[in-house]
Amino acid sequence: MSSILQLSNITKTYFLKSENVEVLNDVNLDVGKGHCVVIVGPSGCGKSTLLNVMGSLDGPTSGRVIVDNIDISSRNDAELSAMRNQKLGFVFQFHHLLAEFTCLENVALPGLLSGEQPKSSYERAEQLLEKFGMVDKLNRLPEQLSGGEKQRAAIARALINDPLIILADEPAGNLDERNTNKLMEVFLSLKDEGKTVIIVTHSLDIAKAGTDVYDLREGRLYVM
Ligand SMILES: Nc1ncnc2c1ncn2[C@@H]1O[C@H](COP(=O)(O)OP(=O)(O)OP(=O)(O)O)[C@@H](O)[C@H]1O
Ligand SMILES: [Mg+2]
Repeated sequence: MSSILQLSNITKTYFLKSENVEVLNDVNLDVGKGHCVVIVGPSGCGKSTLLNVMGSLDGPTSGRVIVDNIDISSRNDAELSAMRNQKLGFVFQFHHLLAEFTCLENVALPGLLSGEQPKSSYERAEQLLEKFGMVDKLNRLPEQLSGGEKQRAAIARALINDPLIILADEPAGNLDERNTNKLMEVFLSLKDEGKTVIIVTHSLDIAKAGTDVYDLREGRLYVM
């Protein structure tokens, strides 16, 4: 198996004034290129924390994260930000669309930021939104979209830079069955293109689509 992301002995503790919250406790994971990894677990078990550590949005308390052969602890913030833009596509739990930009602009933005020609970024954004049945919503602001539409726009945005790895946090949280199925088809087609998909979710339905499925419990991963 050719490995695209590795976690070794990851721990994560949030240090609050009154208590230390130990969330991850010796997480080890080796993600193969082209796999679809699904990590399931109940609310509060540390799924978002783990995904943020994998995507270098948050540092672990200890342990090592390697993304596409890069040890992320050896890189500074600017390098990590460039790496994320180039190699990773994030689908956040709470979509994080920019309120003052239209749906189309939100999706195109990571393309523009990575130096892509505006015309090709907008064209690709439109194609992606079309794929998710959003072609009639291109010029809407996020507040003018439903929860599921915002989520679909956020997924399109994650794909705009043709990332190596897609990191998705509860991607079907606001989707109905039809759009959940569509989303799973998209994830599976990405896998078939050799992309790697990592999903954290509480949904066992989504877990069915995984090539590797883990349970996150008491800060550790268990193969399901
Ligand atoms: N910044 C923080 N400071 C302190 N504790 C935090 C912080 N962020 C998260 N936590 C705690 O860490 C634990 C894991 O949180 P996390 O958001 O990773 O859970 P989750 O599995 O994604 O939950 P959900 O399914 O509800 O999204 C929770 O107990 C949460 O209260
Ligand atoms: Mg979460």
